[in-house]
Amino acid sequence: MRKMVLRSMVVLAASSTGLFALFGPHASISSFNSGSNDEVCVYCHTPHNSRNNLGPIPLWNKPATDLELTNGFTMYGAAASNVEGETLAGTVTSQQPQSMTLACLSCHDGVSAMNSVINAPGSGRVNATDGIIIGEIDPKPIRNDVAVTIGKGGNLADDHPLSIEYIEGRASLKPTSTVISGDGWYRANTIGDLLRNGKVECVSCHDPHGTPYGLYTRQQRSGSKLCLGCHNK
Ligand code: HEC
Ligand code: HEC
Ligand code: HEC
Ligand code: HEC
Repeated sequence: MRKMVLRSMVVLAASSTGLFALFGPHASISSFNSGSNDEVCVYCHTPHNSRNNLGPIPLWNKPATDLELTNGFTMYGAAASNVEGETLAGTVTSQQPQSMTLACLSCHDGVSAMNSVINAPGSGRVNATDGIIIGEIDPKPIRNDVAVTIGKGGNLADDHPLSIEYIEGRASLKPTSTVISGDGWYRANTIGDLLRNGKVECVSCHDPHGTPYGLYTRQQRSGSKLCLGCHNK
């Protein structure tokens, strides 16, 4: 009971800043593993000793995963051919996932322990290399089902291109200066605000703290509004 009260207080505190409200499954991450800790932000952020080699990612508290260290991701790439044997022009993602995409995959790849952090709450509990399991219990991967496991076992070949540079005109992409605020996009004024280092990452389409829409999408999915934000189709 005490835990429940504390957890709602964290959520309330976050929303009262007006910056964002942390809600949805991420607001109760601690209840998804038995090393529960009510400092819910700690599963992703830390005030000290954070990982800073992932690009524009704030105070990140997750260590590199095995799949990251071994370049173990299969990326989206279309060297496919049609029935006539003609090669189809398509997106080829040559690089391994980067920045915010790696950040999400540090829990969502279905293999890595979501309760592993660099800096666990308390004094002197830092391990940047292997991470520390919060609560000193077994590493606990995310629920291993299709619904929340993206890039399972390193397979990103069947997902929308990720860590891909946004080049206007390719795949009917609109100019990055296109104003999208006023159209229901959550915390973005232009298409450029959806990109990180000029690339499409998981956070281009999702905000992990919560949005007015389901599944953390930054725009409603009905009417394909999410897709039509970038693609002129
Ligand atoms: C599931 C992981 C996760 C949790 C839990 C989480 N964050 Fe974040 N946070 C992120 C990611 C990823 C970004 C980068 C988002 C982006 O660039 O769009 C971020 C960005 C931020 C930023 C800077 C940019 C912004 O969005 O304003 C702040 C501040 C922040 N988080 C605070 C918090 C606080 C406070 C909590 C706890 C109440 C929290 N976060 C919980 C993943 C998380
Ligand atoms: C610290 C671990 C962790 C990180 C990092 C993390 N998630 Fe999650 N995420 C979870 C857990 C746990 C769930 C709930 C799983 C379940 O339902 O069993 C979840 C659920 C979700 C869902 C499903 C929401 C729903 O309503 O069904 C989405 C979408 C999602 N996460 C997106 C992201 C994105 C995008 C990022 C990166 C910006 C991210 N997550 C980073 C742990 C994490
Ligand atoms: C181009 C936009 C886009 C990008 C990029 C994107 N997503 Fe999604 N995501 C969606 C949409 C739309 C849905 C809802 C439709 C569906 O379930 O596939 C969704 C659904 C999800 C779900 C819930 C699946 C379910 O069925 O409950 C999770 C978890 C998720 N995304 C995580 C991620 C992660 C992690 C990344 C990066 C590795 C990512 N997404 C990148 C658009 C995107
Ligand atoms: C944040 C901008 C953005 C959003 C939102 C977005 N896309 Fe994309 N999309 C891209 C980029 C960038 C590419 C890569 C274009 C290239 O270089 O070939 C791409 C490529 C594609 C491709 C071409 C793949 C190929 O093999 O050529 C398809 C199809 C596509 N997106 C569908 C979607 C759908 C469906 C949605 C909504 C769920 C969506 N996109 C949302 C930016 C976006």
